[in-house]
Amino acid sequence: MRSVLVGTGSALPKNCVSNAELAERVDTSDEWIRERTGITQRYLADENETTGSLATIAAQAALDDAGITIADIDLIVLATATPDNTFPATATQVQHRLGGKGFPAFDVAAVCSGFLYALSTADAMIRSGMARRAIVIGAETFSRILDWEDRTTCVLFGDGAGAFVIEAQDVEEGGAGIIASRLHADGEHGEMLYVDGGPSTTGEVGKLRMKGREVFRHAVTNLSSVLREVLEEAGCQPEDIDWIVPHQANLRILDATARKLGLSMDQVVVTVDRHANTSAASVPLAYDVAKKDGRIKKGDLVMLEAMGGGFTWGASLLRA
Ligand code: UT7
Repeated sequence: MRSVLVGTGSALPKNCVSNAELAERVDTSDEWIRERTGITQRYLADENETTGSLATIAAQAALDDAGITIADIDLIVLATATPDNTFPATATQVQHRLGGKGFPAFDVAAVCSGFLYALSTADAMIRSGMARRAIVIGAETFSRILDWEDRTTCVLFGDGAGAFVIEAQDVEEGGAGIIASRLHADGEHGEMLYVDGGPSTTGEVGKLRMKGREVFRHAVTNLSSVLREVLEEAGCQPEDIDWIVPHQANLRILDATARKLGLSMDQVVVTVDRHANTSAASVPLAYDVAKKDGRIKKGDLVMLEAMGGGFTWGASLLRA
């Protein structure tokens, strides 16, 4: 029995901000952002758009894509580092807005790797028999925790949400579903990417702080090693992979990671150019884009991967 992906959905804020527009209020340039990151624009939430509202739209779209309703769901796991409130968990509010009740709904905090953590948790609960059909969401409004005076970070991020519906299915060998996943964490590097606030310390929400160059170095090393671990566990070779759907932090990280595996950039789903880094939302958002535009087809072998604050990192291999 495997957790099979039966629906995807995504949501973006209405407001799209180009690099040139950003350069009017931050000491930066379109050229610098493009060359160093591959980003050309990002979507930024207005005061009426929250992590919860974007997550609800993405989740409803995933239910519609699967051809089911909230009545068919018995679990919601939502990955975010920017919840609407410190508590209750944003997942419970999404459950309510979708018209659900009673079944478990909770948030997972692993920042940019959050969706991989949420997906692995939901997959484990499905395989253990605790749930039959789950909505797994990555949703963020990072614009709320950016220091708009810090050009080294504020140009890199955007807001958005993506969602998967996964369900228990008995499948044949080589059939659809999540085949293997690996998660890692190493708290030693916490100060390289963190938010300088929180309920138990300053009492304020705080702002994102990052040592970009160090994070970049760790990202390429950690991602290529976890990708190899997952391939080994699945008994697959890099050349078996049809698509990589990576966390979208920087085009140069995507390129370096693909190169280390000997894969071509043509097999990498890239959305960092239009969405920037949407943290936990980036993997399901990118997957939804590539599925809807016809790139990811049924039967394709797809690798999801992410690395973020903590550090946390992970990867999942699935057959679409
Ligand atoms: O999602 C979680 C994981 N996050 C990541 O994976 C992010 C990983 N890191 C990165 O993507 C890259 O390190 C960055 C995009 C953050 C930075 O790129 P970089 O090539 O490592 O640049 P740098 O930090 O070494 O900065 C180079 C120069 C500096 O100037 P000097 O000291 O060489 O004169 C910066 O002050 O670029 C300057 N700079 C900027 N210039 C214009 C930094 N930010 C900007 C900016 N506009 N926005």
